[in-house]
Amino acid sequence: MTAPKKLFIKTYGCQMNVYDSERMAEALGGQGYVATDRPDDADMILLNTCHIREKAAEKVYSELGRFRGLKAEKPDLKIGVAGCVAQAEGEEIIRRQPLVDLVVGPQSYHRLPEMEARARNGEKALETDFPEEDKFERLKNRPRAARGPTAFLTVQEGCDKFCAFCVVPYTRGAEVSRPAGRVLDEARGLVERGVREITLLGQNVNAYHGAGEGGDWSLARLIRELARIDGLERIRYTTSHPNDMEDDLIAAHGDCAALMPYLHLPVQSGSDRILKRMNRKHTAESYVRLIERIRAARPDILLSGDFITGFPEETDADFQATMDLIEAVNYGQAYSFRYSTRPGTPAAERPQVPDEVATDRLHRLQALITRQQRAVQDAMVGREVGVLFEKPGRQPGQMVGKSDHLHAVHVQAPDLAAGDLRRVRITASGANSLAGELL
Ligand code: SAH
Ligand code: SF4
Ligand code: F3S
Repeated sequence: MTAPKKLFIKTYGCQMNVYDSERMAEALGGQGYVATDRPDDADMILLNTCHIREKAAEKVYSELGRFRGLKAEKPDLKIGVAGCVAQAEGEEIIRRQPLVDLVVGPQSYHRLPEMEARARNGEKALETDFPEEDKFERLKNRPRAARGPTAFLTVQEGCDKFCAFCVVPYTRGAEVSRPAGRVLDEARGLVERGVREITLLGQNVNAYHGAGEGGDWSLARLIRELARIDGLERIRYTTSHPNDMEDDLIAAHGDCAALMPYLHLPVQSGSDRILKRMNRKHTAESYVRLIERIRAARPDILLSGDFITGFPEETDADFQATMDLIEAVNYGQAYSFRYSTRPGTPAAERPQVPDEVATDRLHRLQALITRQQRAVQDAMVGREVGVLFEKPGRQPGQMVGKSDHLHAVHVQAPDLAAGDLRRVRITASGANSLAGELL
């Protein structure tokens, strides 16, 4: 028997890339590959890349340059680029960096085994089409080995929204939803392997409309069916768009016990003028009203968001409107970014805000979010929450897990194991996590 070949994957970007890397490793498992966490040990190196902000492509080229020595030592080493930079740059990658053997866009991962064989033959393999067939139909099922208690599961991919700043509609293509039956099967398989919490993924996950019994299913319908799977205790989903937050999904937050009280709902700006220029198709007011309806369904829901500072033409007054919106909503968590010009997107052509102004706004916004985040976390002290334990903590006898609201929680309890879901009383709030005791 020949020794297995080794595969090293480095993952950048969003959770969907994390999920895709897992599926690519499985697809290449069929070609005799096992995972390694050391590039110098690998027979194949795959970079799963992200294109969301500037300089992403440059970073990929400099990372690739670092493998030159390895390839010289080991001429059989194959190097591949996957993900959104692969989609955006395509053939240009092989032209600029001839040591690359394989370039594969996010919609073509089912072709990897065949591409690997071509690369082994000394050919360059390139696939960046948006094929008609659903890549998931042909990707191997996940193998049945045991795994940790939490997992991602992609249910929807691509985006039709075309926000004026964003490359995702170009790199991931049009919105496609996976059929409900396949999602349910994959979820059952995960639960058999020990998974107790699943996070449903999509670039616009709440636009999900997968084919199911009786017609297309909404995300809420899918969540309710998933909640019936024995042993699946917790369901989350990300990322959602405010305009796709339908009534049945809001209602599910109130009456579906497995759906966790956490919602990531990006708004990007609090200025109606900027929202319009961003092509978001909602206003600050409609977003705040929406949050009120969600909170009416689930009062303790923890809200998270995404913000961009320094979008073209953003004035001090526009930025102040964003700060006012943040004050009005009170976030438990948020991600914020300085606007980054993406060639080919509509906003790239407009008058840009100076870097120092955008950076100063970003720092002020982050200070406000940090204050809110800390206050929301501190307010958990004394409350009882569910915690799904994932791994040992730094102290002997300590376990760390995530609360229903996605806070990290440390508990001193030597008998706990990864995968245990227990009720915990929160006793203290630290810099980035909570401490608690078992009930
Ligand atoms: N589909 C998701 C996430 C898209 S990317 C959504 O609509 O929310 C994640 C975040 O990156 C976005 O929400 C946005 O805040 C940020 N982002 C996207 N393009 C950007 C750009 N050109 N500059 C700065 N931030 C950007
Ligand atoms: Fe990008 Fe907007 Fe689509 Fe989100 S909704 S992926 S920010 S275009
Ligand atoms: Fe990045 Fe592509 Fe995800 S650009 S954020 S890896 S969809």
